[in-house]
Amino acid sequence: MKVAGTTLAAAVTLLVALLAGTRDARTQVALSALPAAPEAPADNPTTPEKVELGRLLFWDPVLSGDRDVACATCHHPRFGYAEDRDLSIGASGHGLGASRQFAPGSAIPLVKRNSQTVLNVAFNGIAATGQFDAAAAPMFWDLRVRTLEAQALEPIKALEEMRGSSVAEDQILGVVIARVAAIDDYRARFTRAFGGPGAVTPVNLANNSPFDRYQRGDADAMTPVQIRGLARFERAGCANCHSGPMFSDFAAHVLGVPDNLTLPASDTGVNGTYAFRTPSLRNLAFTAPYMHSGVFRTLDDVLDFYDGVQGRGGRGGRGGRGRRNPNVGRGQLDPLLGRVNVNGERELIAFLGALNDPGFDKTIPARVPSGLMPGGRIE
Ligand code: HEC
Ligand code: HEC
Repeated sequence: MKVAGTTLAAAVTLLVALLAGTRDARTQVALSALPAAPEAPADNPTTPEKVELGRLLFWDPVLSGDRDVACATCHHPRFGYAEDRDLSIGASGHGLGASRQFAPGSAIPLVKRNSQTVLNVAFNGIAATGQFDAAAAPMFWDLRVRTLEAQALEPIKALEEMRGSSVAEDQILGVVIARVAAIDDYRARFTRAFGGPGAVTPVNLANNSPFDRYQRGDADAMTPVQIRGLARFERAGCANCHSGPMFSDFAAHVLGVPDNLTLPASDTGVNGTYAFRTPSLRNLAFTAPYMHSGVFRTLDDVLDFYDGVQGRGGRGGRGGRGRRNPNVGRGQLDPLLGRVNVNGERELIAFLGALNDPGFDKTIPARVPSGLMPGGRIE
């Protein structure tokens, strides 16, 4: 079995089959529970062997130039497979989440955006009707990549994420593939996962947030304040963009979120327009800080921003958090923002709490086939 770039991408991709929530969607309203199973690409059906291989690769720093960073470094189960940092530190860093820092004298830059969770990412692009197309699934804050498989190798190639400065960009994939292929355990696992037909079994992990259970007919799954919050969420105009089972329309909108001022340059988003993709609102309890720039620590901060960004002098304006990005004129803001009304903040936040599902896989492999530290230098 030859380990090729496409097989490596396919294997890394399948970790998400493991992390995706699964449930039947009964309701076909603007907001709904997640469907029964994430759709694996037709040419890459999910098998237990592939899922386990993907999981090991996800945790193995052997995929990074200096063998110091794994996918899990920035997508860690302790933080809902996101990261407790505004901006990620990849190559040459050590530590996890808020306590992660660069090695002294490191010349590697910060990653310029907040790490997104990979939980449920197999559903990216799902429409309110429940329809979705894995072959067109949008990825990243600026939608710059379509499909998980195309995405999987990007962090390996990026200097500041996993590549580091010791291997050139046009060499890195060849280098990590050769390393993986030289490890007997990986070779055997690739052969078992991709060499034969294998038993195709859908991975079944429940997405059991209170909201999903409520949608499936359990009227007591949400508290009364959460139920009022759901109505408010729709009335407040949030569902104009945070729609469908993922609470995202997967479209780009200009909100005027402030830049992260630790970066040397302003982040201009999709094609320089300052538009960013609507993120999912599932599992927010685990994935702070928020927004593409990671500038808001709490959901209160986010709502203060929505309240103040239009310059109507809301509470956010007073706290300074409602200030919009000075590079974005008021006229550039998405017209749907004009309909947003954040009265009843307590209920809105209670409702967002109903979208958390703590039941995701939090296990960490005891060892990875390279023998390196699972997760990279995160101690
Ligand atoms: C150094 C930190 C870092 C590492 C290492 C890293 N990521 Fe990420 N990841 C990020 C950041 C930051 C983003 C958001 C980037 C953007 O949108 O521009 C992201 C985005 C993603 C997304 C898109 C999620 C979405 O909803 O669009 C996926 C999927 C993903 N990463 C998977 C991986 C995989 C697989 C690996 C390992 C091969 C990996 N990441 C390694 C920081 C990291
Ligand atoms: C015009 C579309 C739109 C509307 C309306 C809207 N949002 Fe958003 N929301 C977005 C976009 C786009 C982002 C990401 C912006 C960025 O990072 O620059 C976002 C980000 C967020 C985040 C941060 C999530 C994360 O993981 O970082 C939360 C929380 C949120 N919105 C909640 C709400 C609530 C609650 C409402 C209603 C009061 C609302 N949104 C209304 C489009 C919208």
